[in-house]
Amino acid sequence: MKVSLTGIKPSGTVHIGNYLGAIVPAIELARRFERSLYFIADEHALTSVEDPAKLHAQIYDLAATWLACGLDPERTFFYRQSAIPEVFELAWILGCVAPKGLLDRAHAYKAALAAGEAINVGVYTYPVLMAADILLFDTTVVPVGKDQKQHVEIARDVAEKFNRLYGDVLALPEPEIGDQSMTVPGLDGRKMSKSYDNVIPLWAPAAQRRKLVMRIKTNSQAPAEPKDTESSEIFQLYRLFATPQQTAQLERRYAAGIGWADAKTALADVMEERLAPLRARYEALRADEAALDRVLEQGAQRARAIARATLARVRAAVGIATPGASAAQRETAT
Ligand code: TYM
Repeated sequence: MKVSLTGIKPSGTVHIGNYLGAIVPAIELARRFERSLYFIADEHALTSVEDPAKLHAQIYDLAATWLACGLDPERTFFYRQSAIPEVFELAWILGCVAPKGLLDRAHAYKAALAAGEAINVGVYTYPVLMAADILLFDTTVVPVGKDQKQHVEIARDVAEKFNRLYGDVLALPEPEIGDQSMTVPGLDGRKMSKSYDNVIPLWAPAAQRRKLVMRIKTNSQAPAEPKDTESSEIFQLYRLFATPQQTAQLERRYAAGIGWADAKTALADVMEERLAPLRARYEALRADEAALDRVLEQGAQRARAIARATLARVRAAVGIATPGASAAQRETAT
């Protein structure tokens, strides 16, 4: 069975990079798969968020975002990572298989180390928890942005090692970095990222978004000079929101010489066109946390049935199954 799974951390404002790099491609992809899972990686967020009220709010922001963007919780599995205890047991078991050298080479950990940040153990073992998220559901495809590719490869390496040791138990996942999930640039030209403070929030009011768009860095070409589309962040972002006809039109305006202020206005307009109806849906969903809880809880119950079956298989493979437990677990799973 082809299974897709992806998660987002509620570790800050949901931004245009998450939307274009992960949410849109993941929802598109669901149509091609027999089983698709989406989750809120709330326990992963604990590596960086220390404010409980903020974390609480960000979890619901994210839940409402996925639903507003078109995720269908009936036809897919939509849940909070923290509602699946099996993830954490599997993470321990996988941690006993994962070579330390593999985690030493993880980009996110190396970057934190290079920046001289105080690193908690959660940052270091992050990829193991992520491997558990993925492997627990026999995932074959993980749609993510480029920055998460290495993490998915680590999950695959750990699964391969597990299978070499214990037999053919875990499915091997592949990252899928779609066309759209290029690295979305932020205001300063670097990857749009909560940690670089260069994001355009997805649900910012139109006026605030326009102000941020006006801050996007450009070169010093004069208004009438013909401009290159490839190297223009404004154009690259525009393309991701516009129809092919709109994109072709802006391309002609670049060739003819467009002022940067006009290009930015065109970008702010096309973003608003696409996001305004979604924002209305988002606000309605976000206003009812109890309803969001019900949706997430139902998703978790369904997801746990699969999780229990995988964990029973893993426990039996490594030799810690309790007699009778796997049969009982298999029953609850069906
Ligand atoms: P997170 O929360 O940092 O990002 C969520 C998703 O958004 C993508 N993304 C981007 N794509 C393009 N351009 C950008 N500027 C940009 N910024 C973010 C990310 O690639 C990601 O797909 N570790 C994960 C969460 C996670 C997960 C998982 C994902 C936990 N377990 C299992 C997949 C499978 C993370 O921190 O993503």
